[in-house]
Amino acid sequence: MRILSGIKPSGEIHFGNYLGMLKPMVESQSRGELLCFIANLHSLTTVFDGEQMAAWTRQMAIDILALGMDPEKSVFWMQSDVPEVAEFSWYLSNYTPMGLLERCHAYKDKIANGISANHGLFAYPVLMAADILGYGVNKVPVGRDQKQHVEVARDLVDAFNHRHGEILVKPDPEIGEDVATVQGLDGQKMSKSYGNTLGIFADAAEVKKKIMAIATDSTPLEDPKDPDANPVFAWYKHVASPDAVAEMDRKLRAGGYGWGHAKKELVQAYLDHFAPYRARRAEIAADLDGLKKIMARGAEKARAIHLPILENVRRCVGVRYL
Ligand code: ADP
Ligand code: TRP
Repeated sequence: MRILSGIKPSGEIHFGNYLGMLKPMVESQSRGELLCFIANLHSLTTVFDGEQMAAWTRQMAIDILALGMDPEKSVFWMQSDVPEVAEFSWYLSNYTPMGLLERCHAYKDKIANGISANHGLFAYPVLMAADILGYGVNKVPVGRDQKQHVEVARDLVDAFNHRHGEILVKPDPEIGEDVATVQGLDGQKMSKSYGNTLGIFADAAEVKKKIMAIATDSTPLEDPKDPDANPVFAWYKHVASPDAVAEMDRKLRAGGYGWGHAKKELVQAYLDHFAPYRARRAEIAADLDGLKKIMARGAEKARAIHLPILENVRRCVGVRYL
């Protein structure tokens, strides 16, 4: 089974991105053949500062490798390093009715939020379909918000194959049901747009400052506490050992143990949990030549999968004329 995961580079990875997307992705390496790429061409629809773009992209590559992406076992590459995917996207555009794109929620929502539309944003699902169909994948794990885009890819398979025969493979979206929404510092969904995030690689002082500032109620110290009253215990569950989690649960419910104590334990567990990844991240960042080689090798492996499929499509549409 071939699984494809695409991630847009967009700033610092927060705890929600990590639990909701990156951790399951790294773990999926044991489920089948994982193809994972950084969708930097997609980010260009909304990011226009080239230096910022390059910096985020580089950092995302480093972070994903630090979190356990194994470039030997899996295919890990930068979308723009296989530029043929943009050529494929053009072929698919001609099988894409305008109405199909006009109905896409992600596009409609952006317009509704006042983000002015450019052609890239409108055509975003076609490029995404090229990412998926260009690698002949079966499964595409995505968040709920991306399901419709995978359905566009499925529709394009029908349109293309109807004309040319069984050429493209129809992918299935896979929606992770068990990934709960991670709460932000203020208890709402953690999101960059709400300014309530905590970076997984934030330094100790920032982690401490942000966690200690989480609002908690003023239940007296000796009273029992509801562990679910704020994000402290919910986060602790993700970064501490099962024994430590059970112990904090017991102490909170028993009383005589305050949120201040719980926060201190959370700070330590959070830093300890990410310490090995942080160390690995520093090593990778210190060897950019090594990173270049990893990315070049990844692109080579990805291209070896993409080219035969693309070549077939080129032949079908008739750009192979001699
Ligand atoms: P943000 O909302 O901070 O802009 P993105 O939309 O860039 O985050 O998120 C990328 C992916 O990270 C999402 O598709 C989702 O899978 C995951 N993710 C983001 N925030 C959370 C969260 N609070 N809980 C769980 N998963 C999340
Ligand atoms: N659009 C996806 C997102 O915003 C990223 C993406 C681009 C992607 N191409 C893809 C995801 C192909 C899965 C498959 O999260």
